[in-house]
Amino acid sequence: MTNFDIPIARRKTGSLKWDRRPDLDPFWVADMDFTSPPEVIEAIRKRVDHGVFGYAIPHPSLLDALQTYLQSRIGVITPEEQIVHLGGLVPALSLAARAFGKPGEAVLTCTPSYPPFLGIHHDAKMELIATDHVLIDGCWTFAWDTLESKITPATKLFILSNPQNPLGRVFTKDEITQLATFCQRHDLILVSDEIHCDLILDEAKTPHFSALNLPEELQQHTITLLAPSKTFNIAGLGYAFAVIPNKGVRDRFTAARGHTQPEINCIAYHAAEAAYRHGERWRQDLLAYLRTNRDLVNSTLSEKLPNLAIPEIEATYLAWLDGTALPCDNPIERIERAGLFLSDGAFFGHRRCFRLNFGTQTNHLQSALETLVTALS
Ligand SMILES: Cc1ncc(COP(=O)(O)O)c(C=O)c1O
Repeated sequence: MTNFDIPIARRKTGSLKWDRRPDLDPFWVADMDFTSPPEVIEAIRKRVDHGVFGYAIPHPSLLDALQTYLQSRIGVITPEEQIVHLGGLVPALSLAARAFGKPGEAVLTCTPSYPPFLGIHHDAKMELIATDHVLIDGCWTFAWDTLESKITPATKLFILSNPQNPLGRVFTKDEITQLATFCQRHDLILVSDEIHCDLILDEAKTPHFSALNLPEELQQHTITLLAPSKTFNIAGLGYAFAVIPNKGVRDRFTAARGHTQPEINCIAYHAAEAAYRHGERWRQDLLAYLRTNRDLVNSTLSEKLPNLAIPEIEATYLAWLDGTALPCDNPIERIERAGLFLSDGAFFGHRRCFRLNFGTQTNHLQSALETLVTALS
């Protein structure tokens, strides 16, 4: 059993999470305070020991690991040519906008959302149409009527986060099918960012339904983005991949790269292979640890801050806390004054909300929750 309780000193290591605001205890960016699986570290070490770091291509055993992953976890057989290797998901979102949108056309997405979803349209000089997710019977879903009313003929792409960051929702087969049908009807490319799909906390209860699991006809307008980066805590290495079933869509997406994408890190390819090939036991241990932390967030905050609304966290190590009903003016300012660095909901499209990263040692989380309770009481 992996011991995630061991604290790791990350200050002054050039960590975005820990060193951006050295005065605050960090619970913001999606980066966990855990070392990666030992097999990943060993694969990196082995590659480093080779000592030559020239340009790389995806090697055959990486391709085999990706195809095995796609088959065993997502249940699809993926020909190699459908896989597009990428240096990260955010650049891929930008690429998709530039490939399928022209200046003045629009990108559609739902808020609250991962902040780059609200910014990538700028790269293509497009407009953004954002509609809110809605809470129905305690569950965040799509506001179908609002989506229908807001869409324009100039809308070209829908950007989806599934599982949803920051809401922690795992959308169902029915929701994804309805969304893909909506996209097909309006001739939109559905960009499905599934970076968090291996961080579902109870897969028996809320299984992942990928855009790759859609009926073949609906898949023709989709770009599915995947990566081992969040799950295995290797985001700093920069590797992701897209699966694009339709050749025309794939060609247009890859053509938009032009000369804008750097070569992919030669070490990241090996880390990705090791993560997918050998990381499953570690991942199961991680999910058990994250469930404990999620339950601690829920029990502490629902008991001590009943005015704070917390959605059911089905996936990710991120808790979306809605402070709309808190009896204070500026909750995020109070949180910072208390010494904590959480993500400000304003960047996700919702003020008076904030996101707490619970991918850390349980006792570290516990003390932060106590500070949070005091700050907002
Ligand atoms: C939904 C989502 N997409 C993409 C990313 C970042 O991907 P990358 O680091 O590969 O650009 C994140 C990081 O938190 C995320 O939550």
